[in-house]
Amino acid sequence: MPPCSSAVPLLLEAPSWRNHSAMTNPPAITIRPEQPGDAPAIAAVLRAAFGHDAEARLVETLRRDGDLSLSLVALGGDRIVGHIAFSRISILDKGRETTAVSLAPLAVLPGAQHGGIGSALVEEGLRRIAESGVRLAFVIGDPAFYRGFGFAVEPAQPFRSLWTKAPGATHMVRALRPGGLEGLAGTVRYPAAFADLPRTA
Ligand SMILES: CC(C)(COP(=O)(O)OP(=O)(O)OC[C@H]1O[C@@H](n2cnc3c(N)ncnc32)[C@H](O)[C@@H]1OP(=O)(O)O)[C@@H](O)C(=O)NCCC(=O)NCCS
Repeated sequence: MPPCSSAVPLLLEAPSWRNHSAMTNPPAITIRPEQPGDAPAIAAVLRAAFGHDAEARLVETLRRDGDLSLSLVALGGDRIVGHIAFSRISILDKGRETTAVSLAPLAVLPGAQHGGIGSALVEEGLRRIAESGVRLAFVIGDPAFYRGFGFAVEPAQPFRSLWTKAPGATHMVRALRPGGLEGLAGTVRYPAAFADLPRTA
């Protein structure tokens, strides 16, 4: 997938920043693809948001293995405050292989959450992935959050994956173009990096 190089300025109001006495003028949020040198700041956002190391290690391994389809950062001023990754996955069914993406992980710095940054990263990421021609995206996460972006649990039922029997993990999918899910079922093969991720939601 060709990397997208354009940065998208967003007019977001981040309530948690707006309420911060030292930040009467919160910086505008910009979303752009990850650049060389961003890796430490991305890892810091992931550790702060999740409170452990697993997702930071996941992204480092996906990056090292060349399995990242798209990695976007959200910048508040010149600081990375959010990150989303999409990696290449394959659906195997009766000898046929279809390429798709997995959205994981998504993280926003705790102090910048609830201001629309996470949603903006999901929307911009899905827009770019759809534009690249990929027909569907999977995600593991809370349906209460991801339903708003078109992901659904029921259409993911015909697919088996690492998470099919994982307690508390909800596998969701959405088509990225009309008919994107038609005729598809089978085993979803994730990059090796996912094998090390704790399989709970
Ligand atoms: C999930 C996350 C990325 C959302 O980022 P954000 O910038 O706060 O998201 P937005 O401001 O666009 O949307 C916030 C809304 O999403 C919903 N939401 C956020 N996290 C949610 C969750 N875990 N479950 C259900 N709904 C959630 C809420 O409705 C919230 O509304 P509120 O601000 O009125 O409470 C952020 O909370 C985060 O980094 N969490 C820790 C890491 C994580 O759980 N990542 C997702 C799994 S990969």
